[in-house]
Amino acid sequence: MTRYSRVIGTGGYLPDEIRTNEQISQIVDTSDSWIFERTGIKSRRIAGPEETASSMAEIAARQAIEAAGCSPDDIDLIIVATGTPDRVYPSTGCLLQQRLGIKNCVAFDIQAACSGSIFALSIADQYIKSGAARKVLVVGSELCSRIVDWTDRGTCILFGDGAGAVLLTASTEAGILSTHIHSDGEFEDLLYCPNPQVATKSNQEEAGYINMRGNEVFKVAVNTLGRIVDETLEANNMEQSDIDWLVPHQANTRIIAATAKKLKMSMDNVILTLENQGNTSSASVLLALNEGVRDGRIQRGQVVLLEAFGAGFTWGSALIKY
Ligand code: COA
Repeated sequence: MTRYSRVIGTGGYLPDEIRTNEQISQIVDTSDSWIFERTGIKSRRIAGPEETASSMAEIAARQAIEAAGCSPDDIDLIIVATGTPDRVYPSTGCLLQQRLGIKNCVAFDIQAACSGSIFALSIADQYIKSGAARKVLVVGSELCSRIVDWTDRGTCILFGDGAGAVLLTASTEAGILSTHIHSDGEFEDLLYCPNPQVATKSNQEEAGYINMRGNEVFKVAVNTLGRIVDETLEANNMEQSDIDWLVPHQANTRIIAATAKKLKMSMDNVILTLENQGNTSSASVLLALNEGVRDGRIQRGQVVLLEAFGAGFTWGSALIKY
């Protein structure tokens, strides 16, 4: 019998502070209308001074575990996707394991920038399908506000903080139908965040902030996500009309609209969180999935396409029968 990974619980966490476009317009030369028209963003959440990727991950994870009707001790693997780990080590996965009080499981982080949650889902799916794990907690948690240069209007308008989580279980019922992940290291210069503490002598002047050539990233993202739609449909022998919901990485409404168009899908079938969350990097797809599940739009048995694109470049999709 085929062994699937099935989503049995979702969770999400957004910090309290709301930072609006108007507030950012007081810091850099921009405007609410420019930001909203070019990106679809109106506001984003900013973590408090004592919050970390692991503290936010814990809240999202506990929600997912509760929604699944499980206990933390049922989990045998934790995968955290983050580009803003609390510490270089231990991994945020281990810190989350400690917070959840789980003695007997494996925990690690993966780093694939904004595609992190899709990469983590893909890894989790392989572990479950192979029989190496039964219940896997996948979390994306990001403090983008701490790696954004608040004097750079090209990037500070885009990002926000938050965490999303899913609990997967092994099942004979269909769940994740396929995952597709890709990387191309050629594009380092278009989108990167330096790590000054370990920089070489010649790079020591670089601050640890996101650097992005937005317009070029935009073009590659649109083309690449178009290709991942084709690849996913083809691998599953499906048509565009077989997909009920698109749950995209939330970087820019125009990028998302291009993917919806490729799917011949109305924007009514796209879960959009961008307007009030901005781009929460590896948290965004799981936060959007959580929202669609909790408000009842995504129903059991429906087919959901998750996709993301990020620095690396990295990109990927997960097709799920929810
Ligand atoms: N407010 C006002 N003007 C701004 C601005 C801002 N916040 N940011 C840039 N501009 C200006 C530029 O300086 C430029 O001015 P110029 O023509 O006088 O040189 C002009 O607006 C156009 O800049 P450009 O970068 O071409 O704009 P854009 O339409 O590409 O929009 C982004 C910029 C960042 C919104 C868009 O490129 C984007 O969303 N890219 C993808 C980013 C992304 O998804 N990154 C994460 C991947 S996971």
